[in-house]
Formats: sequence, C-alpha cells, structure tokens
Amino acid sequence: MRKLIAAMKMSADAKVEGPEGVADWVEAWSDNYNLMPQIDACLMGAGMFPGYEKYWTAIRSEPNKPVWITGKAPTPEELAWGRFAAETPHYVLSSTMTSALWPNTRFLRSLDEIAALKQQPGKDIYLVGGARTTASLIDAGLVDELRLKVYPLIGGPGKALFEATERRRGLELREVKQLEGGRLSLFYGIV
Ligand SMILES: NC(=O)c1ccc[n+]([C@@H]2O[C@H](COP(=O)([O-])OP(=O)(O)OC[C@H]3O[C@@H](n4cnc5c(N)ncnc54)[C@H](OP(=O)(O)O)[C@@H]3O)[C@@H](O)[C@H]2O)c1
Repeated sequence: MRKLIAAMKMSADAKVEGPEGVADWVEAWSDNYNLMPQIDACLMGAGMFPGYEKYWTAIRSEPNKPVWITGKAPTPEELAWGRFAAETPHYVLSSTMTSALWPNTRFLRSLDEIAALKQQPGKDIYLVGGARTTASLIDAGLVDELRLKVYPLIGGPGKALFEATERRRGLELREVKQLEGGRLSLFYGIV
C-alpha cells in the first residue's frame, strides 16, 4: 500500500503559521524532506490550497521575481519543486471547493476517498498540510510518517500543528539531523 507522508515546517512551539497566516520565518518552501524521489501525488486541505496555488503559480509564471511569503526570488530547489509539482497529481480535501487554477488537481470529499487513494498502485503520497487536515488524518490513522523541520524559534500567536488533534499517538523516531541555521530535521513513523 502507498504510504501517506505528512511533512511540515514548524517552530519549537509547533506553530505552522504566524498571526498573518504564513510561516514568515521559513526561508524557502522547497522539498527539503527528500520526498521527490519517493512520491507521485500530493494531498492537502482546502484551507492551505489557495495560498499554495498562489505561491507556486507565481514561481512558475515569473521565476525571477521575489515571491510572496519569503520576499525573495525562488531558490533553485523551489524552482525544481515548482516543475515537479506541476506534473504531479494534486488532491485537495474539501467539501466546498469545485475549481482550481493549479494543473492536475482533483477534489476529494471524504476520508474514505483518501483511504482508497492509498490502495491505488503508485508511489507514496505527500501530505503537504495544513494543520487541521494533518491533525485529522493522523487521528483517522491514515498517515504513516511524519517529517518535521523544527525552526529555532518560539512562534507565539498563530496556528499550531496539533491544535485540532483528538487522539494520542505513539511515534517511532526514524531519523534526526541537525541542519544549518539551528534547524532540526525529524522523521517519525506513526505507530
Ligand atoms: N508550516 C508549514 O509547513 C505549512 C505547510 C502547509 C500549510 N501551512 C499553513 O496551514 C494553513 C492552513 O491550515 P488550516 O488548518 O487552516 O487548513 P487546512 O488543513 O489546509 O484545510 C482545512 C479545510 O480542509 C477541508 N476538510 C475537509 N475534510 C476535512 C477533514 N476531515 N479534516 C480537516 N479538514 C478537512 C475543510 O474545507 P471545506 O470547508 O472546503 O470542506 C477545512 O476547512 C495555511 O494558512 C498555511 O500557512 C503551513
């Protein structure tokens, strides 16, 4: 069965966005979780999808211009993700959305459809976020791995990754790396 791998960047107090609705401490939104070789689909919640479309559409259409959130021109790794993502099926969990600008996008209406997607043949699936979707899919037992980038920062006000979590889950530590800038990379299996 395909694995569903959640990967998010958070502060030391588990904030995934600040009060303005973005994690403005993140320097670039590239795939620094080593996911690209292993996945062939992306899944995300309706809450984050408009911002995701806006960010990656801007990078695809104007690759030399500073981007919203980081305020900098995209890095080579962001350009690589933009190319990869445009060719990769995207699934958005939503009961309300019906149309998307991003190519290759389909809407899923229930957790059963996610369970069915995992049963289809293919590589693993990247759960991009946001906070509520990740918490609820972990609660539902649909997420197999959690990859976190922890930034050396107490975020303060803002949305926390596990704010909506309702069930306790054990985690199995699979990999720890210290990255430049005091960041930590943590890979967990969800048991
Ligand atoms: N730091 C990071 O790495 C990172 C990564 C990604 C996103 N983010 C942040 O996350 C924020 C969005 O997170 P969010 O928690 O507000 O929204 P979200 O998880 O992206 O989306 C929540 C929406 O998904 C739909 N949904 C349908 N079934 C659901 C279910 N079972 N559980 C949860 N959602 C379901 C609902 O939309 P309908 O009403 O349409 O049904 C719900 O309002 C963004 O603003 C972004 O800044 C951060």
